[in-house]
Amino acid sequence: STENIWQGTRITITAGPTREAIDPVRYISNHSSGKMGFELAAAARKMGAEVTLIAGPVSLPTPTGVTRIDVVTAEQMLAAVQASSMDVFISCAAVADYRPATVAEQKIKKEANGEESQLALVKNPDILKTIAVSAQPPFCIGFAAETENVKAHALDKLKRKQLKLIVANNVSDSRIGFNSNDNAVTVYWQNGEQDFAPQSKALLASELNQLFAQHYFELRG
Ligand code: PMT
Repeated sequence: STENIWQGTRITITAGPTREAIDPVRYISNHSSGKMGFELAAAARKMGAEVTLIAGPVSLPTPTGVTRIDVVTAEQMLAAVQASSMDVFISCAAVADYRPATVAEQKIKKEANGEESQLALVKNPDILKTIAVSAQPPFCIGFAAETENVKAHALDKLKRKQLKLIVANNVSDSRIGFNSNDNAVTVYWQNGEQDFAPQSKALLASELNQLFAQHYFELRG
């Protein structure tokens, strides 16, 4: 039985997209619905964890027993994660890699631009990497949304971001990944991998939590 396998463990999960304002009416974002992260939070809670869910702008109900913190931007998400006490960090959010260099105070008028217009962007903080390389980091699990060379890119992120596990989705298949109800993933770690067949995000979340717990408790001894 997987009941209470997470007992006594504090898990923080990010979910959904971030939204980076261009002006008062426009923003940069992506197609993440938050479903995968919310299902991970619900499953972890059912398995006995104390769960904090840090959510970007999504329209999903809060899973029972989960503490939810709503944020909008990557910078706000980073601050909320850094303020959280956690044993395990699961970074499922699709964080915008860049944000507009400045946010226009008034709606940008098309009359102010010609046929072409440029938007200057600056890099957002990498939330997962910031946490993973901090002093006494929690057990860090990343996600990788890739459209090609899934394994190579996932292994590169595992190393570069100093993660214990990375969950790779091939988002070029529209039946799975962003905003779908189903997902199929491969999880990679330093010297192994495991495939998870296409299934609902709810069932997958429960199977993933079992694998995460197994690795977490093995490492802790
Ligand atoms: O929300 P759904 O519609 O259910 O879709 C689920 C999902 C496809 C969004 C999810 O399963 C997923 O893959 N999430 C990660 C998407 C992503 O942004 O991947 P990435 O390869 O760009 O980032 C790699 C890792 O670094 C991720 O763990 C991400 O959370 C983290 N990251 C990335 C950039 C950044 N600035 N900060 C981060 O923490």
